[in-house]
Amino acid sequence: MVSSIPIVIAPDRRLKTRCKPIDKVDDSVRRRLDEMLVTMYEAPGIGLAGPQIGDERRLVVIDVAREGDQPDPMKLVNPEVTWFSDEMCVMSEGCLSIPDVYYDVKRPERVKFTYLDETGTEREQEADGLLARCVQHEIDHLNGILFIDHVSMLKRNMALTKMKKLKAQRAGKRTLRD
Ligand code: NI
Repeated sequence: MVSSIPIVIAPDRRLKTRCKPIDKVDDSVRRRLDEMLVTMYEAPGIGLAGPQIGDERRLVVIDVAREGDQPDPMKLVNPEVTWFSDEMCVMSEGCLSIPDVYYDVKRPERVKFTYLDETGTEREQEADGLLARCVQHEIDHLNGILFIDHVSMLKRNMALTKMKKLKAQRAGKRTLRD
């Protein structure tokens, strides 16, 4: 039985850390990737990185399949972007660690990236559209970068103020129920 794990909400030191690479893809790593997928689907979201569940290792899960289509889970260990296109594009982004905040972010339109799959085999893939966007957003997480670090300081501060209020509210509710 694989259970979901509570998602870390910004601002949090764990979301600002440069994550460590995985030495060996073993059963405990595979289990963690499964827990991350369950957590991501439950949220629901289309991507989740290790630090978002307090695991400061280079682990990412993604599923950008459209609603109604077959699920297409991807498990990425030590993912790295190896090539960015010169063409940029703007897309609205959100993040499970910054709920209900969406900003336009400009990033390269296409990327090539490498990773180890769940058997430890090295793979390379090229992506565009939503997958290229998601891969860049999630790999940013592994380097302690959030999507709000790509927007103006005013917007970033607005988002962080909103998150501090959300966390205070959640903490208050927990106290009342206890
Ligand atoms: Ni995110």
